[in-house]
Amino acid sequence: MSFLQVEKITQTYISGNRTVRALGNISFEVSQGEFVCLVGTSGSGKSTLLRILGGLLTPSSGKVWLAGELVEKPPPSIGFVFQKSNLMPWRTVMENILLPLEIEGRIDDAAQDHARSLLATVGLLDFADAYPSHLSGGMAQRLALARALIRQPQLLLLDEPFGALDALTRERLNLELLHLWQRYRQTVVMVTHSIDEAVFMADRVLVLGGQPGHLEAQISIDLPRPRTVDLLGEPDYGRLRLTVRRQIGETA
Ligand SMILES: Nc1ncnc2c1ncn2[C@@H]1O[C@H](COP(=O)(O)OP(=O)(O)O)[C@@H](O)[C@H]1O
Ligand SMILES: [Mg+2]
Repeated sequence: MSFLQVEKITQTYISGNRTVRALGNISFEVSQGEFVCLVGTSGSGKSTLLRILGGLLTPSSGKVWLAGELVEKPPPSIGFVFQKSNLMPWRTVMENILLPLEIEGRIDDAAQDHARSLLATVGLLDFADAYPSHLSGGMAQRLALARALIRQPQLLLLDEPFGALDALTRERLNLELLHLWQRYRQTVVMVTHSIDEAVFMADRVLVLGGQPGHLEAQISIDLPRPRTVDLLGEPDYGRLRLTVRRQIGETA
């Protein structure tokens, strides 16, 4: 059995007298340690699917299995990062990163050391006692990433994590995310609406088509690692971008 197994997922939202079929019938698998990007037009159900993968939303039908266990509520082995960092403004950087452990009553010296080392990894150790209002957008997302990693998740679910940042900051954070991934080897599923970002980051790109959301294509990204900005000028990178673009184009 694969590490992450998605079996015939459908999702229908009912609000008032309006019914939205957000996801049709979606099945796929992700191997342990794989980096998968989900792309698709707005409204194709990417966020819905990610929330179902993480147990934040129970699908109308279908099942998700993580390491052989049925996902019914958010398991501790999953870390999330969303476009908005959702930091607690009244808590310091250190208090924010420790929050997931505090909720579980697991704060001890080892936890504090681990938090400090993660903050150092994302370049925020000097800001441990600062409040979120003193962080730039890029720093806030770095902190959100560090907070998602504090429980050493096996699976990292990212929903357009750097989507609100300027292009250069976004590029830098993508490179940092790849370093973290290469170091800790979590499995990653990342939603993005950027084809460039998807091809740059992923081992495999899943293209969602809409109405209702369905899996349109799966494209293997057989580009060498580690990935660097030099890749952006490579013909193979351009070729894969075009392949992904064409798949989305056919469904838009
Ligand atoms: N809580 C909700 N209630 C009703 N409809 C929703 C809800 N969340 C999402 N939808 C609808 O489901 C579809 C898929 O949304 P979403 O998963 O957010 O897509 P994406 O992330 O690809 O933009 C859209 O048509 C959206 O309007
Ligand atoms: Mg979305």
